[in-house]
Amino acid sequence: MAITGIDAVTFGVTDMKTALRFCSDWGLVRQNAQALAAASLPRGSALFHCADGSAVQLAPAQSSTLPAAIEAGNTVRQVIWGVQSRRDLQALASNLGRDRAVAFDSDGTLHSVDDIGVGIGFRISQRKKLKAAPSQFNTPGCAVRIDARAPRYLRAVPQEISHIVFGVKDIRPIERFYRQRLGFLLSDRYIGRSVFLRATAAGNHHHLFIMNTADQRNQFNHLSFKVRDIHEVIGGGQFISQRGWTTQAGPGRHLPSSACFWYFKSPLGGAFEYAADEDMVTAKWKPASMRMDPTLFSEWRFNAGNGMQGAPMADSRIARSKQ
Ligand SMILES: [Fe+2]
Repeated sequence: MAITGIDAVTFGVTDMKTALRFCSDWGLVRQNAQALAAASLPRGSALFHCADGSAVQLAPAQSSTLPAAIEAGNTVRQVIWGVQSRRDLQALASNLGRDRAVAFDSDGTLHSVDDIGVGIGFRISQRKKLKAAPSQFNTPGCAVRIDARAPRYLRAVPQEISHIVFGVKDIRPIERFYRQRLGFLLSDRYIGRSVFLRATAAGNHHHLFIMNTADQRNQFNHLSFKVRDIHEVIGGGQFISQRGWTTQAGPGRHLPSSACFWYFKSPLGGAFEYAADEDMVTAKWKPASMRMDPTLFSEWRFNAGNGMQGAPMADSRIARSKQ
């Protein structure tokens, strides 16, 4: 289906002032009125960009033109996926139009709904390719940063939206929808519990993670933003802590996807995650099926609490199998 990744996420919020402050503190760049007008958002909305143009859209929760909410309170109302061409949009419209409403808006974005009940949109991707020099780490036997200090980050500049996570009543129909209808690929699985899915064969380890929730309710969990390296995860996390926002988990390092992370509770609903150094994969990637084990959430993690454990990983068992 040629979906390239997440282009924008729309949140419905009741307290716009707090949401604006959080997005600015997070390091997102607020866009001007002209860009906002081009995004066809309800009156009273705001638009923020990551460095590559992937967007966070804030809209008043009560706006009648927003897709329905899957839960009470502030939450994600729509995920807009990027595609490569107009032909892709037409193909998606006829595919999804078989069993659900589809509509194009005035800017050419296709709108529909997924099987969680979350609004989904598709547009020709507005993200630009970032150019970056590799982060340089000195290793014994391999010194690459010579006569130069390591980068220091006083705060984070999110480079791109990486992935989104939902808790659902039952992952099975949702996994089916994304894999069979939208062509997502399986990257890894917690057996009977959750799946990591990616939109492209080559690229991110995952763009979408869905997991069964203990309370059997559909809910937004978190949105992840890539930053340049672990130093920026820490620098960004320290800055946003100083601004008064609360850690949800981290800093730490995931086992699946290998990314370093730091999650913060978000007034937009759920959490926002700074992440760096995620595994990048190709069609050759072999999905793992892992037995559910709380220690698999992170290889290591500071501030471990709320029932989830950090290191050590000694008891974790990973069974690889073909999926
Ligand atoms: Fe994440």
